Amino acid sequence: MNTKNFYVTTPIYYVNDKPHIGHAYTTILADVLARYHRSLGDQTFFLTGTDEHGQKVEKAAAARHMDPKAHCDEMVLRFQSLWQRLGITNDRYIRTTDDYHKTVVRKILQDLFDRGEIYKAEYTGWYCVGDERFFTEKDLVEGKCPECGREVSAIVESNYFFRMGKYREWLIDYIENHPDFILPAFRANETLGFLRKELGDLCISRPKSRLSWGIELPFDPDYVCYVWFDALINYISGVGYLQDDAMFEKWWPASYHLIGKDILTTHSVYWPTMLKAMNLPLPKTIFAHGWWLTGNTKMSKSLGNAVNPMDMIERCGVDAFRYFLMAEMSPGNDANFTEESFIARYNSDLANDLGNLLSRVLKMTLRNANGVVPTPGTLTDDENELNSEVAAAIETMQNSLAALKFDQGIAGAMNAIRAGNRYMEKTAPWTLAKKGEVERLNTVLYTAADALRQVSVLLYPVMPGKMSELRKALGYTGDELSNAKISDLVTCPSDLAGRKVQDTDGLFPRIEVEAKEKTAPSPKLAKEKKSAPVNVYTPIGIEDFAKIQLLTAKIVAAERVIGADKLLKLQLEVGAQHRQIVSGIAPWYAPESLIGKTIVIVANLKPAVIRNVESNGMLLAAKTGEELKLITVDGELATGAHVG
Ligand code: MSP
Repeated sequence: MNTKNFYVTTPIYYVNDKPHIGHAYTTILADVLARYHRSLGDQTFFLTGTDEHGQKVEKAAAARHMDPKAHCDEMVLRFQSLWQRLGITNDRYIRTTDDYHKTVVRKILQDLFDRGEIYKAEYTGWYCVGDERFFTEKDLVEGKCPECGREVSAIVESNYFFRMGKYREWLIDYIENHPDFILPAFRANETLGFLRKELGDLCISRPKSRLSWGIELPFDPDYVCYVWFDALINYISGVGYLQDDAMFEKWWPASYHLIGKDILTTHSVYWPTMLKAMNLPLPKTIFAHGWWLTGNTKMSKSLGNAVNPMDMIERCGVDAFRYFLMAEMSPGNDANFTEESFIARYNSDLANDLGNLLSRVLKMTLRNANGVVPTPGTLTDDENELNSEVAAAIETMQNSLAALKFDQGIAGAMNAIRAGNRYMEKTAPWTLAKKGEVERLNTVLYTAADALRQVSVLLYPVMPGKMSELRKALGYTGDELSNAKISDLVTCPSDLAGRKVQDTDGLFPRIEVEAKEKTAPSPKLAKEKKSAPVNVYTPIGIEDFAKIQLLTAKIVAAERVIGADKLLKLQLEVGAQHRQIVSGIAPWYAPESLIGKTIVIVANLKPAVIRNVESNGMLLAAKTGEELKLITVDGELATGAHVG
């Protein structure tokens, strides 16, 4: 077979926050693409990772009173465990704090400096802390950041610059002559519009006095490298640039950089010019997808409407989550995530259409064919029609793969499934069984099962777990559960007849939506609902626990809250901060007995007003029956220390 090398990347994610649906989406998209290419027999390399330097990360670590590297080490586990849970098959996980990456960045910087591609100059500009970007006066929109609209601060300092501006003409020309370089095409036009204005040089350093968390410039120890310059290089350091020539030769240039639309300019302008200066070829395609919105507004941490992938996975399973993200978003455009749309699609596509066809085929085969997929007899127009629907689905999937339109490929596969259900109704195998028309019955059972077999191969990259289960139900075992190739669907005859089927316990149990009652419980999978044991403890993941910020605090003052017998108002020292909390511990502790105790508080609880007194946090205490004891620290420890 004519195999190709296929190299796909995701952006490397900032470790200033926990992963959300936007991160999960790009990573699943890359995973599906990588799995499809493997299934086509291509040699495939899939790189993802984390972007660990820069101001955002430095600030996030400071807010947690942590050393930046320790903060990164902790945050990175959240990404890695989510990817594991989501069945992500990346070949390498790059961290920009890894030594090999830092070495490559420094070598590149030195080389560009030696060749005059980087120079030092005084710079006056505007800086947006949120975006970590410098802007010139003319870039600003009404004096604010052109990207996010926030306030910017004026900055004058000496810095190092990369001669990006001189590549402007060349880049315009390149984009115009390589229609697949930036996709969708309207994003290429957006980049051209940006380039036609003017292109300045790129400030690639930050004085250590302002930011120390970065890679030190090899030619000036007073500066660190600008985080984007460092981060973009991951795409080549991750495949051996300047370290493993054979590896680099094999994978570079990348086939796809998958990115979100908000990081288009850094990828379509900074990165190509950097590569040009390094004399390296450009990636074949930079593909910018749209945003996940919720209720048609942008998801953001500050709006508190970000979807936590972990919550959805817990409730609906990994494969249903992967399926929804891939089926619902037409890459390039924005898509909307709501619980209602998720449940509607799950129930109609997976529980009804796919689940139903499988369960009908299995039950009829077990009941009427000794549980073995029969050999078909003569095919009629009905079989030919279903087979051609399946053939169309294979073609659609292959085309949509080439154009990165998985939603269309998935829709094609679902069409074939719906055609399978129509076929069952039309041919009515249950009547054939009653009438004893064995040959015709065998043909129908085989044809419907074979449609399922083929769809299981088409949808395997999207739902590897569930499609393996489906294949197992059809009688496949071992490697056959996962190594079927789409290309073989066209070239190899079916190997289904004669396999022993087994019933599944409902591949996709319906999600029952309960009428909104007083307590409006969240919808749960019907099957889980019936069998869910009553647990004394509700298990949570480490990610859930990590949401709770526990800190040590010293009680510096305490008094009763007037008019409330049980409440004490406590003044706390938490590191450099001061806090007031109200707590119902008056029955157990006299105010004066508390002074000087180092206790543990939940520091990130929403502020509340209790009996007109503001409370910022909650203290931890243990209680049995009538007894209550504060959780205190054993020995001397600074206040504001992280507890976990
Ligand atoms: N660290 C940089 C990328 C460096 S790549 C050399 C970065 N990190 S990020 O964590 O902030 O964002 C990573 C990706 O998540 C971006 O592609 C961004 O578009 C994507 N998303 C963040 N929120 C999103 C949605 N709500 N929907 C879809 N994707 C979004 O930028």
